[in-house]
Amino acid sequence: PATARADGSRFAFEAISTSTADTITVPEGFKTEIVARWGDPLFSDTPEFDPLTRGTAASQARAFGDNTDGMDIFSHAGRTLLVVNNEYTNRDIIWGDRGDAGPDADGILKGMMAHGVTVVELADGENGWQMVKDSPYNRRITPQTEMLLTGPAAGHDLVKTDADPTGTKVQGTWNNCGNGVTPWGTYLACEENFNGYFSAEDEAHEVSADLKRYGISAKDWGYRWAEVDTRFDVAQNPNEPNRAGYVVEIDPTDATSTPKKRSALGRMKHENAECVVNNDGKLVIYMGDDERGEFLYRYVSNNVYAPGVDTDDLMDNGTLYAAKFHDTGAGEWLELSEATTGMSKAEICIHTRQAASKVGATTMDRPEWVATNPNAPELYCALTNNKNRGIKPNAGGDITPVGGPNPREANKFGQIVRWKPNAGDHTSNGFAWDLYVMAGNPDVHQDARAGSDNLSSGNMFNSPDGLAFDEAGLLWIQTDGNYSNADDFAGQGNNQMLAGDPVTGEIRRFLVGPNECEVTGLSWSADRRTMFVGIQHPGEDGGSHWPDMNDVPRSAIIAVRREDGGIIG
Ligand code: FEO
Ligand code: CA
Ligand code: CA
Ligand code: CA
Repeated sequence: PATARADGSRFAFEAISTSTADTITVPEGFKTEIVARWGDPLFSDTPEFDPLTRGTAASQARAFGDNTDGMDIFSHAGRTLLVVNNEYTNRDIIWGDRGDAGPDADGILKGMMAHGVTVVELADGENGWQMVKDSPYNRRITPQTEMLLTGPAAGHDLVKTDADPTGTKVQGTWNNCGNGVTPWGTYLACEENFNGYFSAEDEAHEVSADLKRYGISAKDWGYRWAEVDTRFDVAQNPNEPNRAGYVVEIDPTDATSTPKKRSALGRMKHENAECVVNNDGKLVIYMGDDERGEFLYRYVSNNVYAPGVDTDDLMDNGTLYAAKFHDTGAGEWLELSEATTGMSKAEICIHTRQAASKVGATTMDRPEWVATNPNAPELYCALTNNKNRGIKPNAGGDITPVGGPNPREANKFGQIVRWKPNAGDHTSNGFAWDLYVMAGNPDVHQDARAGSDNLSSGNMFNSPDGLAFDEAGLLWIQTDGNYSNADDFAGQGNNQMLAGDPVTGEIRRFLVGPNECEVTGLSWSADRRTMFVGIQHPGEDGGSHWPDMNDVPRSAIIAVRREDGGIIG
């Protein structure tokens, strides 16, 4: 139940001011502790993090990964398990000891091993929440972990490689951004910017138009993985990128289980995967494709969820839809089928963006997390920003006109769209939408860039990204935006976390992160007395010493509690 305050609001805290301090700031009456940092060992045979060398490939493979992102807490057999995505690495930080020499092969591999997913048991003791070393549940899932590709794409020619002529045995996951949780208690890790890891020796190498749609080129983003693993050489292995960009299902209760890439959920730059069991029992999953001018998606299972049902079937057999928003406030889900796209089911699941372009879905301002309101059949999606809105088409050539839920040209601030399925039925193809908030800066701008009425000098922010509801029904909003605190962003401080009342629209700032971080990932302990929050890439431009206050900033998970021990969210 909501913790009602004397003033009648649902917020059990006083809003805080913005901050540019290199620390975590929370309201009075709350306290924070560090739970796990990049490089903290999961096993007692692994050395503690060394700020000078920043570890080796071997130590990193058995330590907490880098750049924490989506996460969830699972209660299993009386234990508390944290499952968290480790999205990517900041090369200057992870290779810092190498200076201008750049990384050696082990350094490149260390970067690779810092990607993926960490599963670790947590326990609340004298020093607060800490990782339980050597727990049988502890596990690192990396770009080298063996996985199965399942669903319509499995075995298709487009996913076959020399190393895997079956097109089903895929190695690893990387750039896992947001996440999801299935009704049966498995974890979904969503592969986002998987393209930035592929390269070709010949920088003039031209990739296919289908690979270009996903941002693949002969040049990687600086990770240099092709130097240690030819899988990432796209000239040699042009189908390898077709084996990434999926939602990966992981069973956190079995450290020997094989993760499954669920191709039925489509291939895109997945943000998160918000699962809902519809009134009729069908599994419905809402997903954003985080790229300028890309789309918002829905998956509907063919069969219904019930205890004991074959959950592989629910994740492998279903239909994808892409959203079309009309200026009237109505919207529709457009089915991606052979009839509507002229593509086979497998092709739709591999070239999902191309399929959605064919049906004329609405190009969006970078759809990030989707969250479902526990008190109403209602979804929220953060549209983080889009400097190209109204200016440039997306990579598929679809135009991006101003309008509907993307109302501002060259949108620097972002907004949160919400929609209600017709008749509360998540399988209905119709919905009604509005904007929950338009971020902006009312101190600097008087036009649409000032933001919506529920945004003010006191709660302004830019670039909403992570979204999650608590059990009391407040919407938590995490930002991944411009932290310059200047010009368009003057007065907005560091990235932050706010809470919004879905009914009144009121938004209050709850937490401000350290310098140059993104705040991303949110979950609660089973008793709801601890809120776990992720702090990603503090000091990405060299301006933070958090959390150890030395030369090496480290992405970390923090625990937030009320000083009175009360329920938090
Ligand atoms: Fe990894 Fe869309 O954020
Ligand atoms: Ca994100
Ligand atoms: Ca983002
Ligand atoms: Ca980020």
